[in-house]
Amino acid sequence: MSQVIWITGASSGIGEALAYAFAKQPDVQLILSARREAELQRVAQATRLPQERLLVLPLDLSQGDTLPQKAQQALSHFGKVDIMVHNGGVSQRALAKDTLVTVDRIIMETNFFGALILTKALLPSMLARKSGRFVVISSSVGKFGTPLRSTYAASKHALHGFFDSLRAECWRENIKVLMVCPGYIRTQVSVNAFLGTGEKQGTMDEAQAKGIPAEVCAERIIAAIRADKEEINIAGAKEMLGIYLKRFFPSLFSKLVRQIKVT
Ligand SMILES: NC(=O)c1ccc[n+]([C@@H]2O[C@H](COP(=O)([O-])OP(=O)(O)OC[C@H]3O[C@@H](n4cnc5c(N)ncnc54)[C@H](OP(=O)(O)O)[C@@H]3O)[C@@H](O)[C@H]2O)c1
Repeated sequence: MSQVIWITGASSGIGEALAYAFAKQPDVQLILSARREAELQRVAQATRLPQERLLVLPLDLSQGDTLPQKAQQALSHFGKVDIMVHNGGVSQRALAKDTLVTVDRIIMETNFFGALILTKALLPSMLARKSGRFVVISSSVGKFGTPLRSTYAASKHALHGFFDSLRAECWRENIKVLMVCPGYIRTQVSVNAFLGTGEKQGTMDEAQAKGIPAEVCAERIIAAIRADKEEINIAGAKEMLGIYLKRFFPSLFSKLVRQIKVT
């Protein structure tokens, strides 16, 4: 039976790589979303899927009021959504004291409320069909906080709280949740990250440039879906050490993380 997969943030990075990886699966129908329609069209064409198995659905995750209608469009086009990949997001490269509250709100609206609103719009149809899966792209920073990422970390922690609760509420109806915690992945995320005033950083961080290829990340996400996992880390040794130290030796983690250079 055909699987309808909706990916946000499909115009770049992890979302783009996921579109190509899903397109290789048999009998898949893809819905590709992000703000830049031309980039979505480029990705759609590069998947080599026939037109009738593709829907380009531009949207802005920070504009919550517009999202329920987008979900209705998605549902009416293919009749269902089997897998919703909440991937679209924006990062931060500024201290909390230097980040405008307007910028904090855009990060939360984009990374957290956008996913929440789309989820609530899709849930009734998934519950009625007793089938559905949410794949939520969090971060290693969804597991611990670091300097220069305060609101970004908050938005990713919020996703864990919401979707862990949702999983516990909806398991009887066969609704699955996979939380994905990537470390450094080689994408445009640092280039697009907000400075405190809302401008883009515009440069690639060294750690990002040396990160895990987005294609590898996408393949690991698809393997985790197949294995019915509830949470995975896709990260280098440093981020993995952070996750384990925060969990088992939180005071030591606190002393180490404050050494990260912030200038
Ligand atoms: N790369 C990493 O190291 C890393 C690590 C941990 C977690 N992540 C997470 O992975 C996800 C994907 O990021 P990436 O690394 O692939 O970065 P990316 O190359 O910058 O891609 C971000 C994607 O999100 C979309 N997006 C941003 N703001 C949006 C908005 N307001 N509305 C709709 N779409 C929006 C962008 O498309 P448009 O600009 O066309 O809207 C783009 O497709 C994010 O949630 C990020 O937090 C990344």
